[in-house]
Amino acid sequence: MSSIKLLSFPLLVFSEIVRSMEIIEILELSQVSRRMLNFMNLARISVEPIHILNGSVDKIMVFNKSNTKRVFLIEFLKTPQPVVGQMKVNNVCIDVWSVSNHFFSTKETVYYSSKDTAEKVINCNSNQFGYGVVHILTHLDKIFYRMDIALGIELSTLSTMRGILCHSVFKKCGYLQFRGENETLSNEDCEYLLEKTQPTRGITIFSELSPDFNYKKILHFSRLRVPNLGKMPLEDLKALDSEIANLGNHQFKEVDINKFFHHWIEGYNKKLRRLKLDGFKETPDWDILLKDIVYTEWNSNEKGRYYKSKYTHTEETIDCENGRDFRNKNGQLATVVHHSEYLDFLVWQEKFPE
Ligand SMILES: *[C@@H]1O[C@H](CO)[C@@H](O)[C@H](O)[C@H]1NC(C)=O
Ligand SMILES: *[C@@H]1O[C@H](CO)[C@@H](O)[C@H](O)[C@H]1NC(C)=O
Ligand SMILES: *[C@@H]1O[C@H](CO)[C@@H](O)[C@H](O)[C@H]1NC(C)=O
Repeated sequence: MSSIKLLSFPLLVFSEIVRSMEIIEILELSQVSRRMLNFMNLARISVEPIHILNGSVDKIMVFNKSNTKRVFLIEFLKTPQPVVGQMKVNNVCIDVWSVSNHFFSTKETVYYSSKDTAEKVINCNSNQFGYGVVHILTHLDKIFYRMDIALGIELSTLSTMRGILCHSVFKKCGYLQFRGENETLSNEDCEYLLEKTQPTRGITIFSELSPDFNYKKILHFSRLRVPNLGKMPLEDLKALDSEIANLGNHQFKEVDINKFFHHWIEGYNKKLRRLKLDGFKETPDWDILLKDIVYTEWNSNEKGRYYKSKYTHTEETIDCENGRDFRNKNGQLATVVHHSEYLDFLVWQEKFPE
C-alpha cells in the first residue's frame, strides 16, 4: 500500500486505517511527509502512556492496554553498532543502529502490516538520548491524540537531565517515578522534578527521602507510592488527599493509625479509597488499632468478600473475610484488613444499607 493511496482516502477511512496500525508503523508513516504527519494528527490516534527511563538504562517504551506486555521499545545503547538508517523526528535526524523485524528508511518508507506479535525494537546510540528523547517525544506528540508520559528518572542522572526536563513536552507527564533506591531525594530535586513534569496521575518514590523532606508537597497525588517513607508525621498522614496511597518503611504504629481512623470517621480524607501500609509481619494489636471505634466483623450478608483496587493498570483483589468494618459519619463503609505483611484500609464505593 503506498502512501499516496492512503492520503487519497476520506479522513474517516484514513483514521480507521492508521488507528489499526502498530506504533512502529505509525512512526514510520509519520516520516513520509509533512502532509502525512498533519493527516495523522487529524486522525486522533490514541496511544498508551509513553514510558521513558533514564539511568542504568535509557529507553522509550509503550506497553499494551493491560500494561503486561511491552509492544514498542526504543533503546539507547552504549555498545556501538553500525548505523543502518535514520529516524527523522521533529525535523531532526537520529541515527538508527538496528531495528527488529522491520525495514526502516526515510528515503523509501515501506508500509506493510505484519501480523507478527513480537515486540518492535529500535536501537539507537546512548550519546543521542538527551537530544533524541526531546525530539522523539515532540514528534509523537504531533502524531498522537492526548499523549501521556510516564517518566522514570534515576536520581544519580538528574544532573544531566536537568536541562532537558525544561522542555515543555515533559508537561505531558501523567506519572513520575523517582528511581535509585540508594539515593536520597532532596527537597530541591523533588520540587524541581515536580515543577518541570507536573504529573497529573501520580508518583512513586523509590529513593530515600532527606531528613527534612517536605511531605506536604506530595500528599495531593491521586496515586502515591512511597516504599521508603521514613519519618512522615501523623499530621501529614491526616492531610493525605490521595485516592490510593501505598506507604512503606514508615513510623506509624497501631496507636497512630487509630488516630488516623478517627480522623477519617470525622469525615476527612474524603478522596481516600485505599491506604496500604507495610510493616505488619505480625498480626496488629486490634484493641489499640480500633480503640473507641464501633466496628463489626465481616459479614457475607452485608457486602462482598473481595475488594478490587486498581493502582494504574494492574488490578489487585483483597480478601476481606478477616477484616473489621466501620463507617464514617457520612455512612461510608470501610474495611481494615491484615494480609501478609500489610495493613490495608479499604473504603467501599458501593452503597451498603446501614
Ligand atoms: C497484553 O499482553 C499480554 C501478554 O501477551 C496478554 O496476556 C494481554 O491479554 C494483553 N492485553 C491486552 C489488553 O491486549
Ligand atoms: C540519562 O540522560 C542524560 C541526559 O540526557 C544522558 O546524558 C545520560 O547518558 C542518560 N543516562 C545516564 C546513565 O546518565
Ligand atoms: C543498593 O544498596 C544495596 C546494599 O548496599 C545493594 O544490595 C543494592 O544492589 C543497591 N541497589 C542499587 C540499585 O544499586
